[in-house]
Amino acid sequence: MKYQNLVNGEWVHSAKEITIYSPINNEELGTVPAMSQEEVDIAMETAKNALEGWRNLSAVERAKYLYKAADILERDKDKIGEILAKEVAKGHKAAVGEVVRTADLIRYAADEGLRTFGEIVEGGSFEAGSNRKLAMVRREPMGLVLAIAPFNYPVNLSASKIAPALIGGNVVLFKPPTQGSISGLLLIKAFQEAGIPAGVLNSVTGKGSEIGDYLIAHKAVDFINFTGSTPVGRKIGELAGMRPILLELGGKDAAIVAADADLEKAAKDIIGGAFSYSGQRCTAIKRVVVVEEVADKLANLIQEKVSKLTVGDPFDNADITPLIDTKSADFVEGLINDAVEKGAKALTPIKREGNLLWPVVFDNVSLDMQIAWEEPFGPVLPIIRVKDLDEAVKICNESEYGLQSSVFTNDFKKAFDIATRLEVGTVHINNKTQRGPDNFPFLGIKGSGAGVQGIKYSIESMTRVKSIVFDY
Ligand code: NAP
Ligand code: G3H
Repeated sequence: MKYQNLVNGEWVHSAKEITIYSPINNEELGTVPAMSQEEVDIAMETAKNALEGWRNLSAVERAKYLYKAADILERDKDKIGEILAKEVAKGHKAAVGEVVRTADLIRYAADEGLRTFGEIVEGGSFEAGSNRKLAMVRREPMGLVLAIAPFNYPVNLSASKIAPALIGGNVVLFKPPTQGSISGLLLIKAFQEAGIPAGVLNSVTGKGSEIGDYLIAHKAVDFINFTGSTPVGRKIGELAGMRPILLELGGKDAAIVAADADLEKAAKDIIGGAFSYSGQRCTAIKRVVVVEEVADKLANLIQEKVSKLTVGDPFDNADITPLIDTKSADFVEGLINDAVEKGAKALTPIKREGNLLWPVVFDNVSLDMQIAWEEPFGPVLPIIRVKDLDEAVKICNESEYGLQSSVFTNDFKKAFDIATRLEVGTVHINNKTQRGPDNFPFLGIKGSGAGVQGIKYSIESMTRVKSIVFDY
């Protein structure tokens, strides 16, 4: 199957193509265009031309396209879910679930757009006559939004940018991850079938390493909404110049476990948080920081639960599936080897077949090990033992990342105190770290990002305030 890009309402080829293979078994899934710079220019121009018509529609009219696209997506959930599962080696059930979650997200974005109002601000008495001034404060679209998504949620993390941008009156140029681009293009197809006007939503496929910088630096782009790794995010920050950006980047989310925690629940949530989609989630629990007093008990519970995880084929809904590519699997193996060499205690067998890595839990992880600090994006979980919760908070805050954290304790005051001290965007009390529900604010600080996502917050981020002042 030769997949094409949507540009100005038409499906278009490019001279060069990229073949997409499944990480499960190397099956050839199809080709996507590798767009040239000239073709990118055309897509950008097309989007700019469509802006005026789209922003001048009422939110009610724009919402109609979103509701329709959501229905089409839900109708096609099995077909899209199957391709998604093959393309990024995600459990089949989870892949279909991603499509349904995305349809819900698009509907909610449409609803939220209908609730996006301005306000009237009365003048104060800062200077004579200012009490007879009135500011009409409205939200206006940014213009052309460049949306760039990562491989791990090629449908959901694409729609989480596209839908709020569109309902806010922006036009969009969407660059899917290369591994995940077929799934991304099927999302675009749903909008096209919903009748989205020509030029309002355009796709650009091609390797980020080849066209990424060109897209980011392109003068037609008014706003960049990016989810992906911290190094690429940093580069985008440098290239963006004065233009506003939203960055959702990497993380090293910790689960802090206090002595009074419900350890059974903590272990269950930690396993779910750490190993779902083989740890390839920005919000995966990537280290456990537990007070010494209960560390043995927690480690035993975690070990027992990890041994029950299934490893294998996404179409058998195995818990652990092949990583996205060999480079990623090699990276995770490197972290495992470093931990072993420096004396970490493996609680599970260490095994690799191709890009399939069995889940590994390390106890007695010390702070000189790479696994204590680096984001593996794979199925490996370090346990760090600490003397008290102050030390736990200190270690968490020493991370270059600041996405999320979990705190397990039955003491509400303690939970609140730790939550206020952690340098992260979100703290979950007695639960695993996670982005959803998708209407919650979602943000990373430090090396984990800039700006706030989450449906309402994404609309606010991708619209700007315009103040029109009257004297009366
Ligand atoms: P990635 O390598 O940074 O790629 C993300 C996207 O950026 C892809 O579409 C990629 O295209 C594109 N890209 C690559 N180089 C670029 C450049 N120079 N300019 C512009 N775009 C460029 O990340 P990934 O491997 O797909 O995803 C894993 C990472 O994303 C992890 O670090 C994870 O924590 C993070 N992530 C964060 C969140 C969050 O919400 N905080 C969510 C999901 C993932 P190609 O595919 O063509 O290379
Ligand atoms: O990979 C990053 C995603 O934003 C995580 O989303 O917590 O719903 O799995 P999730």
